[in-house]
Amino acid sequence: MYSGQVTPSHTVNRGFPIPVARRVDAFSYAIRNVVLEAQRVEVAGRRVRYLNIGDPCAFGFKTPPHLIAAVERAMHDGHNGYGPSPGIAPAREAVASELTGRGFPVTADRVLITAGTSEAIDLVLSSLVDSDSEVLVPRPTYPLYTALLAKIDAQARYYRVDPARGWIPDLDHLESLVSKATRAMVVIDPNNPTGATYPVSTRRALLDFADRHGLVILADEVYGDLGYDGPIDPIGKLDPDAAIITFSSLSKAYLAPGWRTGWMGVGRTPRLDGVLDAIRKMSDARLCGTVPMQFAVAEALLGDRSHQPAFRAALRARATVTARRLSAMPGMTCDLPTAGFYAMPRVQLPPGHTDQDYVLGLLRETGVLCVYGSGFGMPAEDGFFRVVFLASPEELDEIFDLMAEFTARYRANT
Ligand SMILES: Cc1ncc(COP(=O)(O)O)c(C=O)c1O
Repeated sequence: MYSGQVTPSHTVNRGFPIPVARRVDAFSYAIRNVVLEAQRVEVAGRRVRYLNIGDPCAFGFKTPPHLIAAVERAMHDGHNGYGPSPGIAPAREAVASELTGRGFPVTADRVLITAGTSEAIDLVLSSLVDSDSEVLVPRPTYPLYTALLAKIDAQARYYRVDPARGWIPDLDHLESLVSKATRAMVVIDPNNPTGATYPVSTRRALLDFADRHGLVILADEVYGDLGYDGPIDPIGKLDPDAAIITFSSLSKAYLAPGWRTGWMGVGRTPRLDGVLDAIRKMSDARLCGTVPMQFAVAEALLGDRSHQPAFRAALRARATVTARRLSAMPGMTCDLPTAGFYAMPRVQLPPGHTDQDYVLGLLRETGVLCVYGSGFGMPAEDGFFRVVFLASPEELDEIFDLMAEFTARYRANT
């Protein structure tokens, strides 16, 4: 009879910690890593202002009610089981229609609905890049790319983007990085973390570069609807036959990051057919994306988008306050963002100091939490850091008061 006690029938060896896989050493995601330190600061009794994560809902922006209604309806209508691996048909058709309408013609069978852009990027990198291959990634980058490349034991090769020229990619540097092992190039436009958007001439040069070297462009366009002057075209509009896979989601411009619902559109060129098959195969294994939320995709892309002009105007106002206040601080520079909700200021650090020293000092003394530039691949001594400016202009003013005071003290005392 079962006595509740298990007697091991073999030699017990419990003296050692269980080892983890070596690849974890190379896996890093600074945007969430800094939160541990912030929690310590909070436990010590200081209010923390979380300017580390780009979640508009955390700052009072509301998910449009018609999207919530669509998800609710789907749940009540019984859409709570598994769905098709590539996503439900109406969502895929809506994405295809959106991309086609914006000048990058894609059919629904070349669209997959995923658990956010994040899962789409994971599926594509896993399907496209071997462990000994390389992917060109901007520096600074959104750190998911380098983290996922570390996970599949592939190499990120950082290409320079020039802060002195509005953070646009340096084509000469890109040319110098290409080798036989290069498979793809990540283009984040509008950009996180810099807040930049690329001029058409830069986009054309990137397309031409990728074409000459047979590279796939991984076009991260999650902020495409959040240009302050209006939505920004997908890069694929300039060449619908280029080898481009575009990504976006409901997270940013549709204010529902917690729903984990995004998509990819695989360009129509037959050169991508094999990659598309591989992505489909991989996507079967994870069963499907979140099903009820997929019912909001068609509502979002084909329905009422009246929340977006107000959101864009709110972002422009915040970007203006951010660039004005940061640029006015002695020893600080900050470009005016043109889209999204991030800025990447630079503080002149005292010799021997790192961006992390500055950011952690700021957190411990003022409760203001930013992310250090080295978390996005920048050299730690260069003094870059990222600010999420979703808080209200009034709160941003308070935050920048704290930051100005701290920065003056930091630079004077160290
Ligand atoms: C450039 C970029 N790509 C992808 C993502 C991931 O977004 P999600 O997985 O929520 O769609 C983010 C989130 O901040 C981002 O900034």
